[in-house]
Amino acid sequence: MTDPRGSTAPAALVCDGLAYAFGEIKAVDDLELSVRAGEVFGLLGPNGAGKTTAIRCITTLLPVPAGMVRVFGHDAAKERMAVRRLLGYVPQQLSADAGLTGRENVELFARVFDVTRRERAARVARVLEAVGLTPAADRLAKTYSGGMIRRLELAQALVSAPRLLMLDEPTIGLDPIARTSVWEHINAVRAATGMTVLVTTHSMDEADQYCDRVALMHRGRIHALGTPAQLRSELADRRREEGEQDPRPTLEDVFRDVAGSGLDEQGGDFRDVRSTRRTASRVG
Ligand SMILES: Nc1ncnc2c1ncn2[C@@H]1O[C@H](COP(=O)(O)OP(=O)(O)OP(=O)(O)O)[C@@H](O)[C@H]1O
Ligand SMILES: [Mg+2]
Repeated sequence: MTDPRGSTAPAALVCDGLAYAFGEIKAVDDLELSVRAGEVFGLLGPNGAGKTTAIRCITTLLPVPAGMVRVFGHDAAKERMAVRRLLGYVPQQLSADAGLTGRENVELFARVFDVTRRERAARVARVLEAVGLTPAADRLAKTYSGGMIRRLELAQALVSAPRLLMLDEPTIGLDPIARTSVWEHINAVRAATGMTVLVTTHSMDEADQYCDRVALMHRGRIHALGTPAQLRSELADRRREEGEQDPRPTLEDVFRDVAGSGLDEQGGDFRDVRSTRRTASRVG
């Protein structure tokens, strides 16, 4: 399929029966997931599906109480430092320190991730350049726009030269131009390094455009998985069988189909409710 290195390449990430509960709430419930080396993999799902919790287990910020997580073959429960060295992480909550300059923020991450003193300044300058922040590097982060902050956080995550970059809603709240800019920077680094990317997003357009494969997560589990084109065409086939004349589902339709009425029960929704309503009124 989309794996340029063929099926023999080691998986970048494998979750096997991963489970994590907050008291009674099973946030991640027997999660099975495999991300191929070099691909951009989208983990999609409504609010509360368990995406962030799964990511926090994978990044070793939460323990792995049940099941197994492997990053390029390393066990996240037993080899936490080895796993951390392979990972870059942009959390869902903003993580840059507003009182530091852009460059200082990235330097901090370089130190935390053991980038050697000798290499540090050059590496920091290179990632700031890669995300287009060189001109603003010595300004305080509190003077940055939302898009600049997200690019700064991307630079922080990239400074350790990760093999697996984990992005939890990297483009939330960004205008379309800033969003495209974040993806262009990600793709430029991928082209240069072969880095694997796991991303969560509520933008189905974005997932369709940038992800090689997507998984739809709901209530802690994966309910559908494939390339965006595969998932759309599977739903189109089902709709055709049901007698629809012009079944051209979007990825958002696939998402609705998978998550079904459970979305309403959980209070989960899409960011772009208006366009969904438009689609619904056209269909209805
Ligand atoms: N620290 C916490 N304490 C208690 N419950 C939590 C905590 N963090 C998450 N949960 C619960 O775990 C479930 C999964 O939450 P999680 O944040 O992983 O979902 P998500 O898919 O990332 O959602 P979103 O799209 O809104 O970011 C939810 O029911 C949530 O309320
Ligand atoms: Mg989340």
